[in-house]
Amino acid sequence: MENKLREIQLRVMQSIEEARQSANLEQIRVSILGKKGELTGLLRGMGKLPPEERPKMGQLVNDVRAAIEEKLEARAAELKEKEKAARLESEAIDVTLPGPERGAGSLHPMNIALQKMIEIFVGMGYEAVEGPEVEFDHYNFELLNIPKNHPARDAQDTFYVDDNIVLRTHTSPVQARIMTTRKPPIRVICPGRVYRADEADATHSPVFHQMEGLVIDENITMGDLKGTLDEFARQMFGEGIRTRFRPSFFPFTEPSAEVDLTCANCRGEGCRMCKGTGWIEVLGAGMVNPRVLEMCGIDSTKYSGFAFGMGVERMALLKYNIPNLRYLYENDLRFLTQYR
Ligand code: PHE
Repeated sequence: MENKLREIQLRVMQSIEEARQSANLEQIRVSILGKKGELTGLLRGMGKLPPEERPKMGQLVNDVRAAIEEKLEARAAELKEKEKAARLESEAIDVTLPGPERGAGSLHPMNIALQKMIEIFVGMGYEAVEGPEVEFDHYNFELLNIPKNHPARDAQDTFYVDDNIVLRTHTSPVQARIMTTRKPPIRVICPGRVYRADEADATHSPVFHQMEGLVIDENITMGDLKGTLDEFARQMFGEGIRTRFRPSFFPFTEPSAEVDLTCANCRGEGCRMCKGTGWIEVLGAGMVNPRVLEMCGIDSTKYSGFAFGMGVERMALLKYNIPNLRYLYENDLRFLTQYR
């Protein structure tokens, strides 16, 4: 038995020395010192020894056990160190390597179009002004010659906050605010968000953007309006793009016009986009109704003016040949980042 013990000690010490991983040490420990381990088995067999040999053998087994445990511990500490060193090495970060690339953001195509529109009018001497999106009925309707029960209110599918307050249905209330607070000459554009209770589809959204323009001075005529919009069309869509005025009606302008632009897709030849007409309807415009001037405290015998309003999303769709308004609102980065 003594020999057997010595043999176990030698063999186990050897394999502990050769262990390469902490997990191997645990296997060794269980196979020798565990409940069904070799040494444990020997200890159990001691009952068969003559009584006088038992203390000596007991002592021997304990010594071997202690030696193995000590060796296991020492080797475990060694391996732990090694494993830590290896882990640190593998996790080492080379701070001189270039970092992961973070794509720069880009402007939304609607905003690119809007910036371009603002730029063009600022270039013609206009000032960009803003007004509230939650607006008094007074500015959104009354001062624009749309009294309560006026049929034009139906056309605008208004979101009412209460009897006197609405989400503005167009940017025209900003021109009412400007006219009541400033003296002519006035030359402003009013870009901003507007709201209408429309179902979202390829050409409609309950929230969209408009840009209104307003000019008031002495001797302003429809010719000035036409010239201004022609110049805008040229700068926005390129040489050869012209405007066409068709008679229309708005309570706040008289006379009023719907304005078409030469279809930028076919340059007026007629294509699917313009339904073969060569023209695309893009904005409403007209001479400011003298009643509106008077309500806003401007002398209509001395001053005249023109106003126009256009949809910003619509301009973006036309400029970039985007077939569906939804693309602008879904905000899929693969779509948005095409426009810079
Ligand atoms: N406010 C009109 C609309 O939203 C557009 C418009 C503005 C028409 C100015 C004429 C003059 O439909």
